[in-house]
Amino acid sequence: MSAAIFRRELVQDEPALICVVAGDDAAPEVVWPTVEVLRRLVPELRFVRGSSGREAEERYGAAFPQETQELIDRAVCTLFGASGGPSRPVLWYLRWGKDTRVNIRPVRWQPGYRSPMREPEHFDFVIVRDNLEGMYPPREGDLAELAALASSRTWWQPPPVDRQGAYAVRICTDEQMAYVAQAACELALERKAQGYPGRVTLGAKYSIQPRTDGRFREIVRETVRRYGELEYQEFLIDDLARRMVAVPESLDVVVLSNEHGDILADMAAGCIGGLGLAPSGCYGPAYAYFEPVHGSAPDLAGKGVINPTAMLLSGAMLLDYLGYGEQARRLRKAVAEVYRRGQVLPPDQGGRATTEEFVAAVGQLL
Ligand code: NAD
Ligand code: IPM
Ligand code: MN
Repeated sequence: MSAAIFRRELVQDEPALICVVAGDDAAPEVVWPTVEVLRRLVPELRFVRGSSGREAEERYGAAFPQETQELIDRAVCTLFGASGGPSRPVLWYLRWGKDTRVNIRPVRWQPGYRSPMREPEHFDFVIVRDNLEGMYPPREGDLAELAALASSRTWWQPPPVDRQGAYAVRICTDEQMAYVAQAACELALERKAQGYPGRVTLGAKYSIQPRTDGRFREIVRETVRRYGELEYQEFLIDDLARRMVAVPESLDVVVLSNEHGDILADMAAGCIGGLGLAPSGCYGPAYAYFEPVHGSAPDLAGKGVINPTAMLLSGAMLLDYLGYGEQARRLRKAVAEVYRRGQVLPPDQGGRATTEEFVAAVGQLL
């Protein structure tokens, strides 16, 4: 693998087809204005609308109709809003169906973001999250089933199979852990070329889970060692959570398991000013999709005030993926300028602008 995982070679003269699945609750309110902005930046892009959730149930009789799956398959990548439940089968397909193995979640404060931290300018790192394994997808069952598992009798505490209760399974394949580790290294190299320290930091519970997180630690260590130019540090995940808040400037590329990455990405978003600001991209060997870190924000649905920044910046990651780096830079610059001026900000950032007004302000600066 090379950094090519973060890029998609487009066939010359063939316009890139992008599937848009807006998702549930307030998510469509940030997705459609983002599509308009992307269209303006790169007029040759073609977008197709994949229906999902309640709307799809009404129209096709299924929350994830075959038609939408085919559109996702025909497209070079997908722009996804968020699932509030009904669109979850689409999210599952975008992850496991399309083998999108790593989730890249940049955490970067910029002037104008309403951070609760004293020195928010120290937040400038990227979370590389396993997108496919660990505790996902859910594999759970009754405790009694564990009686049939021979190795469970050798565990430090055999499971209480005679009690009512449940277990959950955590899966970590060497292949996937190596893929995530390598993606983190490739990203750290790319960032090093831009002036970042080239430092990979692992956070995991290797002290308590030697077979899963301990193995992850070995694999990440080994992978970073092969990249001579990179630095490496590792911390137990609880200590890393503290460091993320107390010394964020010590972080560059942070590699995490699926569930740790899920939790710390929201925490990190909170540190820079909220979920409305945190974009993400999910990449695999043959496909990618782009979605904000946040969910469907049901509490904001229909109000027209959801912050579109996370979605717009996810759109910029999509442009980078398709090789439109210059347009991605223009989009990021326009967003940064709206925050720097601070006159048209959505309510979560202390302003009174609607989603539409914020996007219009960005549009004027493109
Ligand atoms: P959430 O991210 O939707 O909302 C958490 C809080 O952040 C809410 O107060 C919300 O108003 C606020 N918020 C989120 N995005 C915002 C934005 N762009 N601008 C301003 N404020 C914003 O998380 P939740 O409430 O825990 O979950 C709601 C639903 O979303 C659940 O069904 C959950 O499973 C789902 N979810 C989906 C995804 C995804 O599709 N990838 C991610 C996270 C949560
Ligand atoms: C995310 C979300 C999802 C996750 C949910 C909706 C399954 O929280 O993308 O961060 O846990 O991965
Ligand atoms: Mn999450």
